[in-house]
Amino acid sequence: MSTTAAGTPTTVVSSESAPQAAPKRTPSEPCLFVILGATGDLMGRKLFPALYQLRKRGLLPDRSVVLGVDLRTDLNDDSFRDQCRAELIASGIPEKELPPRFTGGNLLYQALPKGNDCHALAERIASIEKEKQLPGNRVLYLALPPAAFAPAITALGEAGLNKSPGWTRIVIEKPFGHDFDSAEALNDCVHKYFTEDQVYRIDHYLGKETVQNILVFRFANSLFEPLWNRDRIASVEITVAECLGIEHRAKYYEGAGALRDMIQNHLTQLMTLTAMEVPSAFEAEAIRHEKAKVLRSVMPLSHSDVVFGQYSSGKIDGQDVPAYVDEPGVAKDSKTETFVALRLWVENWRWHGVPFFLRTGKRMATRASEIVVNFRRPPVMMFRECGESSLHANKLVMTIQPDEGFDIRFEIKKPGDAVELQNQSLHFRYSDVFEPLPEAYETLLLDVLKGDATLFVRDDWVEDSWRLYTPLINNRPPVYPYSAGSWGPPEADQLMLGMTEGWTTP
Ligand code: BG6
Repeated sequence: MSTTAAGTPTTVVSSESAPQAAPKRTPSEPCLFVILGATGDLMGRKLFPALYQLRKRGLLPDRSVVLGVDLRTDLNDDSFRDQCRAELIASGIPEKELPPRFTGGNLLYQALPKGNDCHALAERIASIEKEKQLPGNRVLYLALPPAAFAPAITALGEAGLNKSPGWTRIVIEKPFGHDFDSAEALNDCVHKYFTEDQVYRIDHYLGKETVQNILVFRFANSLFEPLWNRDRIASVEITVAECLGIEHRAKYYEGAGALRDMIQNHLTQLMTLTAMEVPSAFEAEAIRHEKAKVLRSVMPLSHSDVVFGQYSSGKIDGQDVPAYVDEPGVAKDSKTETFVALRLWVENWRWHGVPFFLRTGKRMATRASEIVVNFRRPPVMMFRECGESSLHANKLVMTIQPDEGFDIRFEIKKPGDAVELQNQSLHFRYSDVFEPLPEAYETLLLDVLKGDATLFVRDDWVEDSWRLYTPLINNRPPVYPYSAGSWGPPEADQLMLGMTEGWTTP
């Protein structure tokens, strides 16, 4: 028996003494991995460490070449390699694991001329492929600021880099658009040069192990699917809470806010995975089709379904933290939302009448991402003498981070003469059974290399998601203050009034 952070006693039901390794995947085909924006933050923090791990695990063949591309003309192959090595160390890879210098021809750099002309890049790519005898398989990864996506896609297409003797796949980071019109325009630009099956839109939440496991949990177990509907489920809560503020990203965040930064993509992905119908097969198109259908069934949002918040100063882990408006680079009169809670209605036969509550915020009490499925209470209350309020509804909690796993909460009789109820839980934690989980970017990059688009965002999904939220961007709800270190503004609780026992606090 152990105790969770919330103080609920728990029962461990599954663990083995030695951690198990994840099943090994087969390596990808040799290719040229081209990263546009290779001197940026994402390359150093995520992409290069993930590529390094893939190579170390034998999943990226030695013959594959990584070609960093950027506007900086002061870099060459050698200085780029030194920079990549330093970034690996900064990302936590022990220095003694690395050679003193990266040498050799599978990590290269190409400067782009201003204006993005990619003809010189196309020539360099052809010459590398010839020299290394690569089959012409290419990944074009746009690790660029959003405003640079369309110009880069156009330049690549105009230089003929949308096709090759092997396969060509283009990877586009988030945010994909900033409202419905911009997402549609970006899709049009992409489709002018690339077919949809060449396109991999990233949402790093889809690379997280527990997120992928939602599908396995639902469709590989016969226990839950018969309960997964309006007859047995009262509500679903999806929370992604962060303790962090906006760090050094004021410029981006001021123009984005929590609705664009987290809700439109990550939380809505979690919602569609939770609500989707059983796909006809466990393959990309079938799964993405079912997810898109959910979005099309969501009722338009009104202000009464949404609460925006912005953090004021407060304490996190005993440390004073400033208000959002006092963060460097933020306007003193900023109305940008750092918290969103909303209530969605999925109007189909499975979910009619079941609210989906989505909540995310910066500077909240704890870092936690989870999906809570609240089951209905028993129709007849037999244990009246224990008091109605002592009966908790059953819950299934899927914890995405930290400490990934699943909990099922249920009522038991407390031992003793009197009938007294107590809430207990069966739980599974990945860390009890498995070795540490791979980083989301490792999973996603390997999927790109292998041509599996299951965990990527399709054109219609991204447009439908923006279609749902754009009215809130054009006609913004009021923004309520909340103290840093709290669970958001009290107004968010009103969304649940009369519908559940209240937010489940991780
Ligand atoms: C990013 C957002 O997409 O996701 C960040 O831009 C946020 O603001 C981050 O902090 C959260 O990701 P994770 O994996 O740490 O939950």
